[in-house]
Amino acid sequence: MTRVVDARLTVDGTTRELPLERSTVGNDGVSVSTLLKDTGLVTVDPGFMNTASCESAITYIDGDAGILRYRGYPIEQLAEHSTFLEVAYLLIHGELPSEDLLAALNNRVARHMHVHEGIKTFLGAFPRDAHPMAVLSGATSALSTFYPESVGRGEHETELATVQLLAKTATVIAYLQRRVTGGDLIEPRKDGNYVDEFMRIAFSGPDGELDIDPTIRKALDLLLILHADHEQNCSTSTVRIVGSSQANIYASVSAGIGALSGPLHGGANEAALSMFDGIKESGDTVEQFVAKVKDKAEGARLMGFGHRVYKSYDPRGAVVKDVANKVLSELGGNDETFQMAQRLEEIALSDEYFIERKLYPNVDFYTGLLYSAMGFPRQMFTPLFALGRMPGWIAHYREMMADPRTKIGRPRQIYTGEVERDYTPLAER
Ligand code: CMC
Repeated sequence: MTRVVDARLTVDGTTRELPLERSTVGNDGVSVSTLLKDTGLVTVDPGFMNTASCESAITYIDGDAGILRYRGYPIEQLAEHSTFLEVAYLLIHGELPSEDLLAALNNRVARHMHVHEGIKTFLGAFPRDAHPMAVLSGATSALSTFYPESVGRGEHETELATVQLLAKTATVIAYLQRRVTGGDLIEPRKDGNYVDEFMRIAFSGPDGELDIDPTIRKALDLLLILHADHEQNCSTSTVRIVGSSQANIYASVSAGIGALSGPLHGGANEAALSMFDGIKESGDTVEQFVAKVKDKAEGARLMGFGHRVYKSYDPRGAVVKDVANKVLSELGGNDETFQMAQRLEEIALSDEYFIERKLYPNVDFYTGLLYSAMGFPRQMFTPLFALGRMPGWIAHYREMMADPRTKIGRPRQIYTGEVERDYTPLAER
């Protein structure tokens, strides 16, 4: 990539130099913060197609080359060698933990997995068929009221809130799984391994025991790693913008969960599986469905395809497809749907519409099939994405709060309404 040497902008015949912000790798930035003061002009960039909202040292993506790195480590290496809690430590603290530090984090998180009785009552107050993402967002915001000692900007509060969020949202998500499947809530144990304990709370019978299938355990840990961060995506940007008002971390993450629930973001994993089922139910061939997507008249999109940043194969999608292949052949999941998904991918990848627009499968294309094979109902797919993304949200909130240059997030607009008019009394309208 060629480095920009300087940037100039000419407005009404006057040229100004715009300062450059240097990256360590990837795109440098042209700083436009003083443009309004100097020229009276604002920059326009709907959807932030070309706007860097902050500096960050957490995650790097090269969308053309299909590269994803957490704190410099390639996702493929972390997926192969690491564990989710180790990755959480890396994202939040910047370095891989020693064995002692990792054990300390696991123990601390395990000790905080129990939730206040009031949280259980709160979960029970929602309709049984409430979407778990709505309940999760509400419960996450409510954590600040049950654990006020962890609310604040000091080091102690920040560390405590980090552990509380990792621990208690895992229990809440496991409880949501129990609610969806009709089981009673069971108590977390205080000495378990994080992912094992999540699975035990989610899946055990009334005696609280669960024989964890090592294949499922490994696949779940891996999926959580793949979802752990993705730089300034919609939900993380939401967490940052809410936090920039100095709202507490629980309120900020709760808002991020709301953003994640949308079908263009994390909700795409649930939407992709519904799409596969919809194709089967309609009796359409895969080719006919692809034709409808290209036609756009019916508003159909190929869910689990396309990405704002990746313009080649999403590296997370590649790992998920590989794991889905192994897990489904070992556990005997829905092979028919997996085959249909692969056929859909094959057709799309050789079709001019998708080639031209650089649309490839993203992480959400195959995850639903995997989660299903593990025993999670469809509504739980996006909460599982949230469980994985938790360390990323926490890391970004902390990075932003620690940066003295952070300002409240407050975009400008191009006003297109009425200029000025006089009030008409009600009786005269
Ligand atoms: N199916 C059909 N056409 C598509 C798709 C798709 N999945 N994605 C993009 N396009 C078309 C779109 O219609 C547009 O066509 P045209 O140039 O003719 O108007 C072009 O490709 C560019 O699309 P865009 O919507 O302007 O691109 P974007 O960067 O704003 O949107 C996206 C990115 C992920 C929202 C979009 O690709 C999409 O809706 N994908 C389906 C939902 C999905 O899988 N989301 C998960 C994203 S990855 C995980 C995560 O971040 O949560």
